[in-house]
Amino acid sequence: MSVNKKEKIIVIDFGGQYNQLVARRVRENNVYCEIYSYKTPLEDIKNMSPKGIILTGGPASCYEENAASCDTGLFEMGVPVLGLCYGAQLMMHLLGGKVEHAPVREYGHIDLTVDTSSPVFADVSENTVCFMSHNDYISKAAPGFHTIAHTENCPFAAIANDEKKLYGFQYHPEVLHTTEGSVMLKNFVYNVCGCSGDWKMDSFVQESIEEIRKKVGDGKVLCALSGGVDSSVAAVLLSKAVGKQLTCVFVDHGLLRKDEGDQVEGIFGPDGSYDLNFIRVNAASRYYEKLKDVTEPERKRKIIGEEFIRVFEEEAKKIGRVDYLVQGTIYPDVVESGLGGESAVIKSHHNVGGLPEHVDFKEIIEPLKYLFKDEVRKVGLELGIPDHLVFRQPFPGPGLGVRIIGEVNEEKVRIVQDADAIYRSEVEKAAEEYAVKKLSYEGAEIWGGHLHNSRAAIIRHNYPDWMPDQYFAALTNMRSVGVMGDERTYDYAVCLRAVKTVDFMTAEAAQIPWEVLQKVMNRVINEVSGVNRVMFDLTSKPPGTIELE
Ligand code: XMP
Repeated sequence: MSVNKKEKIIVIDFGGQYNQLVARRVRENNVYCEIYSYKTPLEDIKNMSPKGIILTGGPASCYEENAASCDTGLFEMGVPVLGLCYGAQLMMHLLGGKVEHAPVREYGHIDLTVDTSSPVFADVSENTVCFMSHNDYISKAAPGFHTIAHTENCPFAAIANDEKKLYGFQYHPEVLHTTEGSVMLKNFVYNVCGCSGDWKMDSFVQESIEEIRKKVGDGKVLCALSGGVDSSVAAVLLSKAVGKQLTCVFVDHGLLRKDEGDQVEGIFGPDGSYDLNFIRVNAASRYYEKLKDVTEPERKRKIIGEEFIRVFEEEAKKIGRVDYLVQGTIYPDVVESGLGGESAVIKSHHNVGGLPEHVDFKEIIEPLKYLFKDEVRKVGLELGIPDHLVFRQPFPGPGLGVRIIGEVNEEKVRIVQDADAIYRSEVEKAAEEYAVKKLSYEGAEIWGGHLHNSRAAIIRHNYPDWMPDQYFAALTNMRSVGVMGDERTYDYAVCLRAVKTVDFMTAEAAQIPWEVLQKVMNRVINEVSGVNRVMFDLTSKPPGTIELE
């Protein structure tokens, strides 16, 4: 996919926590956008011929020594620039305005009054709400700038130099709490930068298929398929492009969710809908053997990752020489691995523990490496991949290995698989019932009115607020005394986890209704032998993590 031909907005990353969100919001407006570190040389930025530049927030004070900065030449390129929070302050600081510690710190939802005659505030209400998070503020605008928005404590909540097309917002338009933030960003990219919106997922699919065909020719392609969204979308894209020249290897490590291996085989295997060679390797016993007596979480991760590579290599050897290896890398992986932006890596997760060393291939193909997750999903739908797979909740590469505290064995895997299947089905059922009820209350024409959406998509769109972004059962390593019938039991405790999260970096426990939890508890105790206690994990992240290991 040649993104070079697209209209491009460059996001310059100063290390703030919402930086990827800025890029996603721009892309939601069909404008392509990439993130680069503030250290990127000005020449490189010029060579990318951006239609506009956005400077992000960041944790520092711009007047401090060694604070992240940028070349003032950026403001002389004749390209529109929008500074956000730190980015706005830095722009003022560098261009002769004044930034200092604010007498009143603003945090959270703040009333904002805007000048609706500014091109960045077209179609925005004069009195609106923004999300602020700052200790410093702009106390004097730089020459040539005037204020276009204010709050009670912030006279320069937004500033503009219309002639030079330079703008700054003290608040965060990328965060949903800024109720009209997406309109403001849209205004910047369309009204100020003059973008027309040429970034669309249907054309992405067509262009990618053509490019892959051209590149691969009659070469052989190998793909490690996990059944997750990214590798599935990458595999289908490749199969549409080169059909049977593609071989997908699916390693079933015995740590998948209940029946998941068969489901993946059903979709991609010989009876499925795609034109590709599919190899399923049932490697469960091999994994259990390697994991015997291993209790340390990182060591488990390592063993699972390494074993994956070994199994994959063995299969690849049977195929012989391949020309291309497909990876389901997506844009956040690129940014977080430090190639793009500045944000610190908080925890590195490797699905497959690196690249195989003993597979002979010419080149790696990463067809999704410019896409955010929501874009990968759109591509998946464009490609006709089943809804339930496209909207599958995230599942860690090491699978149930990190959901079973302590040693992993077949018995524990069975327990956690069965409990998890019950939990997921009850939560889904309750959420669906809620959605159907809500739609019928509203008198909505449930199936007729949404011509382009499947039934599942409409239901999903109307899920209750409590519907978690990730939820699963895990097996604690704790056994405790209970009583069943007249018998004393000494069995395991299952832990139910459910979180609401935007970026999986922070999370809150989801408020699943009590009656749903109770039903799950009853079913797990009655149907899953070896369990006599069910617990719900209330911990947010931080201090907890989403997974238990
Ligand atoms: P944590 O537990 O770090 O999880 O709060 C954040 C998100 O990452 C997933 N996760 C992993 N994914 N390999 C993966 O591919 C891993 O080792 C791993 N550990 C956690 C987790 O499911 C959640 O979505």
